Amino acid sequence: MVETSGPVSVLVVDDEEPIRNALKKFLAQQQFDVYTAASGEEALQQLHRHKVALMLCDIRMPGTSGVDLVPQALEIEPDLAILMLTAINDATSAALCMQRGAMDYLTKPIELADLGRAVQRALRRREMQLENRQLNQWLKEEVTTRTVELQRERHKLERISVATLEALINALEAKDPYLRGHSARVADLSATIAGQIGLSDEEVEQVRVAGRLHDIGKIGTREAVMEKQGPLTPEEYEHIKQHVIIGSQILSPLAHLGPIIGAVRHHHERWDGSGYPDGLRGEEIPVGARIIGAAEVYDALSSSRPYQEKLTPEQAIERMSQLSGTVLDPKVFDALSSVVARRGTLVYLDEGGAGPE
Ligand SMILES: [Fe+2]
Repeated sequence: MVETSGPVSVLVVDDEEPIRNALKKFLAQQQFDVYTAASGEEALQQLHRHKVALMLCDIRMPGTSGVDLVPQALEIEPDLAILMLTAINDATSAALCMQRGAMDYLTKPIELADLGRAVQRALRRREMQLENRQLNQWLKEEVTTRTVELQRERHKLERISVATLEALINALEAKDPYLRGHSARVADLSATIAGQIGLSDEEVEQVRVAGRLHDIGKIGTREAVMEKQGPLTPEEYEHIKQHVIIGSQILSPLAHLGPIIGAVRHHHERWDGSGYPDGLRGEEIPVGARIIGAAEVYDALSSSRPYQEKLTPEQAIERMSQLSGTVLDPKVFDALSSVVARRGTLVYLDEGGAGPE
């Protein structure tokens, strides 16, 4: 049987009562539930009332013709299988019905054996259409689910790749007491500056990750140069400058990092174009790179370094104000000053409003 639950319902639509009754009798013998309608209008009412699998439909009827009934019936019941009953000389109307969505047609007078076969054929086709649609629906849901899973998986891998690089940086910084925590501090300060100048949440996060990774290229710097206490020779300085290129090369296979890679490569560019590695100037320099560059200078000035006194936040900002517009993007410097001033207030609040020491 075609349908799994209960008998299949068939609707017979014909204006001639003897034909209606003959068809009804035959189909009832075939174990179908049979409804009848004497006109197109009545057929539409029946379709609203009952769940019908197949409609047998005369073409020539007063009022709504079979040709016009087909699309209206399918609108009510899109899965309806429709068989047209046509006069021998009306192949054109039958073809039109097929175009509009009928499945097949039979020519009157109808052989009951032919009708039985045509009904079964139409119901099998309908069942296949239903199965196909279910399969399509299932496939669509499956694809959606798998896509979400893959995205989740990808994000996880992306996070792991960044976490691995952070671990490398921690290992690198751990060797040098002056560098310890540098990237984490630069990352936090950079993200706060990025928020201060109004970047989006996503961009702020990118700036934070870029801050964490900005010195990854120092993995390629010779230890003797890294650990040198004192001024660098020109050759050593050229060597250390390579860290931005090496850094962006290390990150370049991680396509998901996107603008983060540019921020790493350009964090030593200068606003006036005198920086490295590409001598970019002004807004040619990615905004993330400008922010990290400023945060890095601030961190260098305000933390202990060999041969350099540690400056207070105010002194560091004062010193950096001389670099605004030459080394530093003035807008980024202004944001940095506000952030540092606000942090100062926060510290005092934390200390129970004791005020500056
Ligand atoms: Fe750097």
